[in-house]
Amino acid sequence: FKVPPAINEPVLNYAPGSAERKLLKDALSKAYATRADIPMYIGGEEIRTGVKKEVRPPHNHQQIIGHYHEGDKSHVEQAIKAALAAKHAWADLAWEQRAAIFLKAAELAAGPYRYQLNAATMLAQSKNAYQAEIDAACELIDFLRFNVQYLAEIYAQQPPANAKGVWNRVEQRPLEGFVFALTPFNFTAIAANLPASAALMGNVVVWKPAEAQIYSANVIMQIFREAGLPHGVINLIYVHGPDAGEVIFNHRDFAGIHFTGSTKVFQEIWKTIGTNIHKYRSYPRIVGETGGKDFILIHGSADIQVSATAIIRGAFEYQGQKCSAASRIYVAESVWPEIKEEILKELATIKVGPVEDFSNFVNAVINEQSFDKLSKAIDAAKSDPSLDVIAGGNYDKSKGYFIEPTVIVTKDPYYITMCEELFGPVLTIHVYRDAEFDNILTVIDNTSIYALTGAVIAQDRYAIEKATNALRNAAGNFYINDKCTGAVVGQQPFGGARGSGTNDKAGSMINLLRWVSPRTIKETF
Ligand code: NAD
Ligand code: ALA
Repeated sequence: FKVPPAINEPVLNYAPGSAERKLLKDALSKAYATRADIPMYIGGEEIRTGVKKEVRPPHNHQQIIGHYHEGDKSHVEQAIKAALAAKHAWADLAWEQRAAIFLKAAELAAGPYRYQLNAATMLAQSKNAYQAEIDAACELIDFLRFNVQYLAEIYAQQPPANAKGVWNRVEQRPLEGFVFALTPFNFTAIAANLPASAALMGNVVVWKPAEAQIYSANVIMQIFREAGLPHGVINLIYVHGPDAGEVIFNHRDFAGIHFTGSTKVFQEIWKTIGTNIHKYRSYPRIVGETGGKDFILIHGSADIQVSATAIIRGAFEYQGQKCSAASRIYVAESVWPEIKEEILKELATIKVGPVEDFSNFVNAVINEQSFDKLSKAIDAAKSDPSLDVIAGGNYDKSKGYFIEPTVIVTKDPYYITMCEELFGPVLTIHVYRDAEFDNILTVIDNTSIYALTGAVIAQDRYAIEKATNALRNAAGNFYINDKCTGAVVGQQPFGGARGSGTNDKAGSMINLLRWVSPRTIKETF
């Protein structure tokens, strides 16, 4: 049995007048008209608790687009029970059957559900059409397809040697117990991949999404169900994070966590797991992709246009709320005047507003808490005479949580916004003297606790090599002459180390191997 080679899903461009733009617009209107009533999914049952929470678009917070039913600790217990009840039948199913379910899910996401899932992501997570397309359509579909290819390769790997009269083999067992998928708001694809990848390897899963992503998680669950995922394999619950954690991390059958989110939450969870380690049947797998403070380094030999595009797209697409987003830039003094002119010119053309107007490049940040944190940082920068706010600086939450793309220039490479993750459209730039290139490499490496993505823009091959070597541990995904966002599944396995995670590379064989517990069998004849 061979799986077909995975191919990346082509990106639709939603050009004015195109059929796909019309279909997406129709899906947006339908979402407003439908006002989804979103249940939890436990053991195949739709659970409506009656504790209804409103879903409002961050760019239009006066409007209600649906409700979800919130659960409590008893629902976490039910979800674990349902998962464990489904466990043996699912684990015993031939891997080809599991693979077929997720390949069918990929086709459903690429076809009939594409516009509904993109519309859900646009509305509840405030992504423009292009950002939704590369996330909720392409990246999600690619995860599902490439995971199946990696699964087949993993199952094919066997010990290379047998002594005479002996047959050695390795069986890839799922983990003993259930996996907890705890997912972030900012990528629909990542939220789908965390439960799906563990389930594909034969595990049963309890999935708790971030509040702002529940609306699109509901569509993902519909896709999994229509693809034939048996009841109880993935159980989707909406329970306050710490309450869910209290039940999950005290359970004997807790076998692993597949997490993406902030460093702070992941570290708290790791501590809790450590404290409870004696309660578990097996050492749990702890896989986490966490925060970032991603950089672009611009050398004196850099191309001006390449640099400006990398800065604008890297820092401001999806309002700087990609874990990979550039938020600190180091630019050589010799090229700064031209780059500054170019970025100011490009920023002047950027429109900020709701997702329903497809010409808006920047939409709203995710919620009021994030808006308040960002506006406070902007105010602090504006009132600091040692800083220069060269663009943006305005914000308005009267209709939606809108923050203008803001650029701060600092002489201090260790200024707070050069070091800490803000997660929004606020970029800080430090201009260094060309002769201090070697020193700036050391500064970049030491400035933050994170190591997720980074980029160098240069035409000088010696500079590229120096940066690539010196910044070896400063980023898990390193880009040369490109922005530091937009890793594609199957092309650039994604993940960082240091405070950015366990670097188990989402969408790769490395990640899938975390969800199996191999058994070696030696048979003697
Ligand atoms: P978050 O840490 O606030 O939330 C992540 C998940 O944990 C959510 O489901 C949330 O409800 C839950 N949670 C929060 N506190 C909890 C607690 N005490 N106990 C149990 N669960 C809890 O993250 P977010 O705001 O949704 O996402 C943004 C963060 O994710 C950023 O830091 C970003 O860098 C990071 N991120 C990293 C990657 C990566 O690949 N490294 C990818 C995407 C996002
Ligand atoms: N694929 C996403 C990016 O690299 C996570 O920005």
